[in-house]
Amino acid sequence: MKGVILAGGTGTRMLPLTKVTNKHLLPIYNKPMIYYPLECLANAGIEEVLLVTGGNNSGDFIRLLGNGREFGFKNLNYTYQEGAGGIAQALALAEHFADGQSICLILGDNIVEYSIRDSCRRFRHQGQGAKILLAQVENPKAYGVAELDGDRVARIVEKPAQPKSNWAVIGIYFYDAKVFDIVRTLKPSARNELEITDVNNAYIHRGEMTADRIVGWWADAGENIDFYLKACVTVSQSGANKEPPAAP
Ligand code: DAU
Repeated sequence: MKGVILAGGTGTRMLPLTKVTNKHLLPIYNKPMIYYPLECLANAGIEEVLLVTGGNNSGDFIRLLGNGREFGFKNLNYTYQEGAGGIAQALALAEHFADGQSICLILGDNIVEYSIRDSCRRFRHQGQGAKILLAQVENPKAYGVAELDGDRVARIVEKPAQPKSNWAVIGIYFYDAKVFDIVRTLKPSARNELEITDVNNAYIHRGEMTADRIVGWWADAGENIDFYLKACVTVSQSGANKEPPAAP
């Protein structure tokens, strides 16, 4: 499985901090934000990674991360997203890199407490389709929200005004190679983006989506300045990408 990290976008919700730099280069406690998703993929045993970035500061990622050997990757690849047309638009740039293999997609502002290795293993075993990870949150309106039918995800609604559950779809996704065909069918949303939620709903519609509920905390550190601050404090107190607690 290959890894794809997204670090484009405009960072407008974090202005003025993002006026002269990319959001994912801002510090979370003692490391740049982008280190956490990179360490998450490395920790899950993924060795080949593509970083999608954009905007004026994209060159800074090469200065910071080089060839990725520091993280244990065989190679760290880079590509550039023109504009900020959505997560699914950025993902489409990974088609050549994926080269028919499955991928783990992670948003560059997402941080998890525990390793995702077990979910990676379950997805490899699943063999095809997609897998999403769910976390229980207090403010579901800010996220893609899963409507559950028992253990099955019946539908995902992006930033619903009236959420039907408090299970957010976090920014770590597993896809088979069909994902790029699905992205080609998408139409821009009301916020003029190609939405990853539409990709996920397409897999649900085909009956090819599974979901894992994560253990431990999850942070969308780039949502706004309050979430950013909370992520800094949480990471400083507990660390990230740790070994999960042993099952009882
Ligand atoms: O964090 C989880 C949430 O991420 C999910 O629950 C939502 O379903 C999903 O849509 C997404 O919501 P956000 O509105 O928080 O996404 P945001 O615009 O903040 O972008 C997330 C990451 O993707 C961020 O690290 C920047 C990157 N990105 C974003 C866009 C729009 C790109 O690389 N290119 C883009 O065009």
